[in-house]
Amino acid sequence: MQGLVCREYRPGDTADVLEVRNSIFGPLSAEDWDRYCPQMTAGLAYLDGKVVGAIPLDQRDFLLAPQLSVPVAFEHAVGVKEEYRSRGIGTAIIEAAREFMADRCDLLMVYRGAERSAGYRFYQKSGHRDLLCLSPVRWDSSAGLSSDAQRVDIEVLYDHEDDILRAYNSTYPLCGGHAPRRRGYWRAALGGQIFVAVPGEILFYRYPSDGEITAYGIFKIRKRDSDAPLEILEIASSSGTEGAREVLQAAGLEAHRRNTVVTDYVSAHHPYRYLYRELGFVEEERNLMIMGQVINPQRLFQRVCRFPQLVADLKINVWTPTKDYVLFEGPEAIREVTLEAKDAIIERLLTRRLDVMSAFRHDLLTIRNGDEGIAGRLAEALPFSPWCHHHLDWI
Ligand SMILES: CC(C)(COP(=O)(O)OP(=O)(O)OC[C@H]1O[C@@H](n2cnc3c(N)ncnc32)[C@H](O)[C@@H]1OP(=O)(O)O)[C@@H](O)C(=O)NCCC(=O)NCCS
Repeated sequence: MQGLVCREYRPGDTADVLEVRNSIFGPLSAEDWDRYCPQMTAGLAYLDGKVVGAIPLDQRDFLLAPQLSVPVAFEHAVGVKEEYRSRGIGTAIIEAAREFMADRCDLLMVYRGAERSAGYRFYQKSGHRDLLCLSPVRWDSSAGLSSDAQRVDIEVLYDHEDDILRAYNSTYPLCGGHAPRRRGYWRAALGGQIFVAVPGEILFYRYPSDGEITAYGIFKIRKRDSDAPLEILEIASSSGTEGAREVLQAAGLEAHRRNTVVTDYVSAHHPYRYLYRELGFVEEERNLMIMGQVINPQRLFQRVCRFPQLVADLKINVWTPTKDYVLFEGPEAIREVTLEAKDAIIERLLTRRLDVMSAFRHDLLTIRNGDEGIAGRLAEALPFSPWCHHHLDWI
C-alpha cells in the first residue's frame, strides 16, 4: 500500500501506540506503557505519517517442552483504526514484526479465542497456526464444601517460592505450553501489564495452613465486571490431587459466597482435568487457542532437535503449499529428504507439537525420498510435547 510504513516502536512513540490501543481496548496510561519497555515493544503502522495500527509485543521465554525454553513475542491488544481495516495493514505489521524480531525471538505467538470470528481469521491469514486448543471449564460450586486450605496474602507466596516451585514442578514435570517457572516469576507475572489493563483482586490459597506449602492456587476476580468469575490463574500440588482438591474446595466456597463461579481452561494434558470433572466443573465448547508462527525455522530446528546425531546424515528440505526451504543440513549429509505437509503441520513439528510417526502414518506428513525409518528418527529427535496452559500467563 502506498504511503504505508511499518516499523518497530521506539522510545518516544508511546502516544502513537496508545492512540490506537486505547481507542479499541480501553485506557492504559503512558506511564503504564513505558514502565514495561523494553520487554514490551510493538509494531506500528503509519499511513502518510499518521499512526493507523499498533501491535504490542510482550517478549518472554516460553517452554516448548520440559527444559526447552525459547524466546518468543506475544502479540496482544492488536489493533488497526476502524476506518483502515481490511486493507492489509494488520498483516503488514505482522510481516514487519517477523523481520525486526528475528534476532531476538523464535516465534510470534498469541492467545486467541473464537475460531469462527474475524479476529481469529486475521491471525490465520497472517501466518499463525494453532498450537494448543483449550476448553473453558466452569464450576457452579455448592455451599456444602469443606477445606483445610487457607486464604493468605500473596506475599506468603513470594516468601515461600521454594515450596511453590516444588509443588509446581511435581505437578507439571512433563509439560510445555507456558512460561518457565523460576524464582521471581510469580511477582513479575502478577505485576505484568495485563493486571494493570485488566485489574482484579488476587486471591491466594495455601495448603496446609502452616508448615511447608504443598498445594496452592492463585485466583483472580476482575474488578470492572460485576458478575466476574473466580478465575484459576494457576494451581499446583506436590501432594497429588488431594492438595489440589483442598485448594479448589476453598475457592469453590469463596465463589459460592460471592455468588459467582470458578473458571479455568483445560487442554488434553491438563493434570487436573479429571479432578475438575469429579468436582462438578462443566466443560464448554473450545474457545481459546495458543497460536504461533515460527520466525526462523532453521534456527528453531537446531534448538528443538533433541538428538542431532540422529539426523546428522540428512539434508532435510521442507515443502508446504506456500513455502520451500532447506531446514537442516547435517554435517555428514549423504541423503536428501523433503518433508511435505500443510504449513500448520510444519509449525507443529518445529514447536514439538507433532507426533511425527502418527502424522506420517496418517498421511499428514509425507517424506519425499524417505520411509518409515526416517520418520522414526525424526520422531525420536523431535518428540511430541504435551502442553498445559496457566491463565496467569495470559495477555
Ligand atoms: C484484527 C485487525 C488488527 C486486523 O487488521 P486489518 O488491517 O484489518 O487486517 P488485514 O487487512 O491485514 O487482514 C484482514 C483480515 O482481518 C480480519 N478482520 C477484518 N475486519 C476485522 C475486524 N473488524 N475485527 C477483527 N478482524 C477483522 C478478517 O479476517 C480480514 O480478512 P478479509 O479482509 O479477507 O475478510 C483489525 O481488524 C482490528 O483492529 N480489529 C479490531 C480489534 C481486534 O479484534 N483485534 C484482534 C484481537 S486482540
